Amino acid sequence: MKDIQDTWAKKAKNEGYRSRASYKLIQINQTHKLIEQADLILELGSAPGGWSQVISSKKKSHAKCLAIDLLSMQNVDAVDFYKIDLFSDEFAKLLNDLPKKPDLILSDMSVNLSGIKLVDDEANLELNLFCLDLSKKILNINGALLIKTFSNQNLKKLKKLFKENFEKVVLEKPPASKTSSAEVYLLGLVPK
Ligand SMILES: C[S@@+](CC[C@H](N)C(=O)[O-])C[C@H]1O[C@@H](n2cnc3c(N)ncnc32)[C@H](O)[C@@H]1O
Repeated sequence: MKDIQDTWAKKAKNEGYRSRASYKLIQINQTHKLIEQADLILELGSAPGGWSQVISSKKKSHAKCLAIDLLSMQNVDAVDFYKIDLFSDEFAKLLNDLPKKPDLILSDMSVNLSGIKLVDDEANLELNLFCLDLSKKILNINGALLIKTFSNQNLKKLKKLFKENFEKVVLEKPPASKTSSAEVYLLGLVPK
């Protein structure tokens, strides 16, 4: 199994992607063509920029992408990066200044692990709920929300909340995501 996982890292290096995570987005996007349809994309937790690179290469030429992260990120062509915390006033201001409602909100965010599983699970749930709440407030009609989450005791509750808020909900485990990792991706399509 390790060989298969290493293949993604090697492939990323050969193809100029900053992280193997790029392939997770490529694989999810292959089915749903999320990026190609959006005029405004909000990417949360973007560093080091693997997903931003994918967005940059697949988005419509006039489409805008705003990416945010706590950490610094090297420039990606046609992506506007902001080094800010999701929970900060700066982020709230950024949202206020958006030119239109986003058609796509993407989050590959996860917290720095404390090593205490329950604490980490709750902190990641908080990030997930923030994204869901944000989508309720600002996502465009026919928009989509894609978040990284984890296969744990909170997933059932999160899925239920997604189903209450979106016409269609899909759980994805892309091949590039390590089988040993509990990470999964939850996609909500068309806000109710
Ligand atoms: C797995 S990495 C994202 C990898 C990225 N998708 C890529 O392809 O390169 C998760 C990121 O979420 C960011 N993050 C976590 N909590 C955040 C918060 N509250 N505000 C902004 N970014 C956050 C972390 O700093 C980290 O860089």
